[in-house]
Amino acid sequence: MSDDRPAPVLRAEGLVKTHHGEGAPAHAVRGVDLCVRHGEFVAITGPSGAGKSTLLHLLGGLQRPDAGSIWLDGESTDTYSEARWAVERRKRIGIVFQFFNLVSSLSVADNVELPALLAGTPPKQARAERERLLAELGLTGKERSMPGELSGGEQQRVALARALVNHPPLLLADEPAGSLDSKGTREVMRLLSRFHQRGQTILLVTHDARLASAADRVISFFDGRIADDATLDGGTPPRRAGISGVLELKD
Ligand SMILES: Nc1ncnc2c1ncn2[C@@H]1O[C@H](COP(=O)(O)OP(=O)(O)OP(=O)(O)O)[C@@H](O)[C@H]1O
Ligand SMILES: [Mg+2]
Repeated sequence: MSDDRPAPVLRAEGLVKTHHGEGAPAHAVRGVDLCVRHGEFVAITGPSGAGKSTLLHLLGGLQRPDAGSIWLDGESTDTYSEARWAVERRKRIGIVFQFFNLVSSLSVADNVELPALLAGTPPKQARAERERLLAELGLTGKERSMPGELSGGEQQRVALARALVNHPPLLLADEPAGSLDSKGTREVMRLLSRFHQRGQTILLVTHDARLASAADRVISFFDGRIADDATLDGGTPPRRAGISGVLELKD
């Protein structure tokens, strides 16, 4: 059968991650198969503690799985070192977190330009890219501000600019509106939708089902597994969720 769907930008098979902290081990991710294709806007939603952030950390190489594999653009990451993952995050994966994670001692301009400079972009071009993105995100005039001088919504827009400055094929967002009020939340969602309309592939993690409805595919995550994987109107059809993930939900 021919497959004319866009190529996968990210693929994962059999991902497992258990956290060993103070208490009992937390089985955060218990066997996840996932395929995200170019241009998709996928939301992963589910209750607190379901393992959503852990899954996103695995997919961005911020944590290592105990088992399973991840492919970026069809290339296996099994042998990637920490340093190699850091390079790939600069080039291929932009990440936005709930609490922005901006460098508090750097200006807005420097926060956005830094990943571009680290990726080897000539300073002039990094500056032009920063100016373009900050204008697009409504932050012109804030270049010299420090992150602490901005509102939460503004800080999150800076974080979005920073994540997108190197034109990553994939944007991973973990509760990017989680610490914002409803106006800030709407703003972030509107921006994500706009970038998606221009072709940006997005994987959004949120516990908020309403936010998830902005995506064209919604994955319900429950107890470390994919419980449901649904394409909303107009989206690219995903591969079916692993049937085992559904059947094993109750154990
Ligand atoms: N670094 C860690 N050390 C120990 N346990 C952890 C660690 N990170 C997560 N966990 C545990 O793993 C499970 C899944 O956590 P995770 O943060 O992935 O959930 P989540 O779905 O993102 O929740 P939330 O919606 O509250 O952000 C939880 O039981 C959590 O306590
Ligand atoms: Mg989380």
